[in-house]
Amino acid sequence: MPIHARDHYWVLESKNTAYAFGVANDGALAHTYWGPRLKSPGDYPEPLPPTAWASFNAPGQLATAEYPGYAGSNYVEPCLKTTFADGVRDVVLQFVRADVIDGDSPALSITLRDAYYPLQVVLHYRVHEQYDLMERWVEVKNLGDTPVTLERVWSALWHLPLGGKYRLSHLAGRHIDEWQLHREPLNVGLKVRESRRLTTSHNAKPWFAVDRGVADEVQGEVWFGVLAWSGNWKMVAEVTDFSSTRIGIGLNDWDFAWRLTPGETFTTPSALAGYTAAGFGGASHILHDYIRDTLLPHGKHLHPVLYNSWEAVFFDVSEAAQLQAAELAAQMGVELFVMDDGWFHQRNYEDAGLGDWWPDAVKFPQGIQPLIARVNALGMDFGLWIEPEMVNPDSDLYRQHPDWVIHFPTRTRTEMRNQLILNLGRSDVQAYLIEVLDKLLSEHNIVFVKWDMNRNVSEPGWPDAPGDAREIWVRYVQGLYHVWGTLAQRHPQVLWQSCSGGGGRADLGILHLADQIWVSDNTEAVARLAIQNGFAQVFPAITMEAQVTQMGQTPAPLEFRFHVSMMGSLGISADLTRWTAAERELGAQLVAQYKEIRPIVQLGDQYRLLPAEGQPFSAVQYVSPDRNESVLFAFRTHIPEPVFLPPIYLRGLDPDGCYTVEGFEGTRSGQAWMNIGLYLRLKDLESKLLRIRRVK
Ligand code: GLA
Repeated sequence: MPIHARDHYWVLESKNTAYAFGVANDGALAHTYWGPRLKSPGDYPEPLPPTAWASFNAPGQLATAEYPGYAGSNYVEPCLKTTFADGVRDVVLQFVRADVIDGDSPALSITLRDAYYPLQVVLHYRVHEQYDLMERWVEVKNLGDTPVTLERVWSALWHLPLGGKYRLSHLAGRHIDEWQLHREPLNVGLKVRESRRLTTSHNAKPWFAVDRGVADEVQGEVWFGVLAWSGNWKMVAEVTDFSSTRIGIGLNDWDFAWRLTPGETFTTPSALAGYTAAGFGGASHILHDYIRDTLLPHGKHLHPVLYNSWEAVFFDVSEAAQLQAAELAAQMGVELFVMDDGWFHQRNYEDAGLGDWWPDAVKFPQGIQPLIARVNALGMDFGLWIEPEMVNPDSDLYRQHPDWVIHFPTRTRTEMRNQLILNLGRSDVQAYLIEVLDKLLSEHNIVFVKWDMNRNVSEPGWPDAPGDAREIWVRYVQGLYHVWGTLAQRHPQVLWQSCSGGGGRADLGILHLADQIWVSDNTEAVARLAIQNGFAQVFPAITMEAQVTQMGQTPAPLEFRFHVSMMGSLGISADLTRWTAAERELGAQLVAQYKEIRPIVQLGDQYRLLPAEGQPFSAVQYVSPDRNESVLFAFRTHIPEPVFLPPIYLRGLDPDGCYTVEGFEGTRSGQAWMNIGLYLRLKDLESKLLRIRRVK
């Protein structure tokens, strides 16, 4: 049984890991263990009695509290901060009850209650046994008859083994430069990563990996986690004055408040975390498997090779140009044709149209159904770009409902890309979007939607908010999930892509709705190697939409660009009329090759053999789940000659199986190929794709 309960003490075990906590003798919940699974449930440490010495070092600072409230003399980062109706700002949580649910995904809930006020807090734990992951979320319920203001409600606090020296890996960047991997030591104090932008953000990602400074891709202890949320979030790594390192993660408390009315329950998003001794690669494998197996709406359904019209025509959309692109795309073997921005009412440039989600009558006098029919006749499915949360002031929608946007009445409504944000916390906005988009999807044969979100928040006001206007940060995301979820449920054939000016909204929350993510607006192939390396820390290749474009002053050779994009869900977005016949022929060959390796890339295990982390060469390998087939991608960017490229050690093969590696002599055991090191010769901006096959 994965959850062992005894005497107010709980051990949660997964395949290889364990997590333990209990009620200390002062009645508070104390964390005791997170790491490798031990031989017997009796091996785990029990909570230590609380200690304190001198008037300055109180138990609140010394304990490894499982879910600390802001109370008493607690100066460390709390998980919960409240103000009661009488002005008291101190929440003292006491243990009430524990409930264990066995079954396929065993769960534990711990009910706590404030020592004085009728406020109930339930900590939920779910063990994803096969994945070595644990999921935590929290429900706060007001059992009284006066409102309580919540000022912080985190999903989890994760304690690392006491006394360790740790290093934090996290993802940072900016628009068109997302997903840059950073590793830095954790020293005493706080390291905060967060989003205040309404979406997950390009700039920081709700993901962490902590190691002892010695882990690499293959080995070493790594504690890692994510938050499944698509709005403002916060992650605080704290090293206390007493060498206790912990990571709190949850909704951002920046400008946040929630007025919890009598009888109301507030539920946080889920935080997931795991431990592995198999290094950063091992941590990624766990997340990849979990996402692919359990989250994606269409599961392991292979993603089509798509063509997207954006980089070819931008706003200059016409039926003729779309058709011409569609014909060329079909000849290259593309399976899905996606019409990007520029197709709807009065959308000739970025200054008008957002909000009016019907085909532009000038560009499409007969609507878009004739185009869809032609695309279908060419043997391709049809997909469409939308940006539902936005409105241009120059739109019918805004003229009718200027009050629907996020704003403060006395402040200028800051436009970014000439657009404002609809307040998706409002039920009338939700109803409008569901109606207009449901109509669009019902009346057309659309099987793919790219859902975009092209700006961040400003003046986050909600003049006639039903509760505290600062609830907007959460109510907006709940509204987004509601609108999108309703449409997804009504149109189950649609595969959704989450885009926010590239990778601005990529998280495990959105992957309940979207099957893939538009990783970055930066599609320049060399830059893309590092971007994809960062993305792959968290997300599996099937979710990584990667397009071959013309971006860059001197784009890399076409084959190099294809190879970079073939490491995810392959797409093309370029003016194909400008490609020579030879380029289109090469493109067609590579599309055909991609279709052959697609199951290995999209469903296989990914190994970052030479991670693209500032090096002029990188290599990534994918291995099919049955280990019969594998594919190796290798890249050299820029480095002066003479140069000696490092050897590549394959991974993930069956050590006892026999394999051939394309371009290398002979048949060897998997064990041999994984240990001998392959030497590839590559010129600047040259890439290689090698197939590896098991020989029967
Ligand atoms: C965003 C997206 C692009 C494209 C444009 C259209 O920038 O990231 O891929 O769809 O919007 O306006």
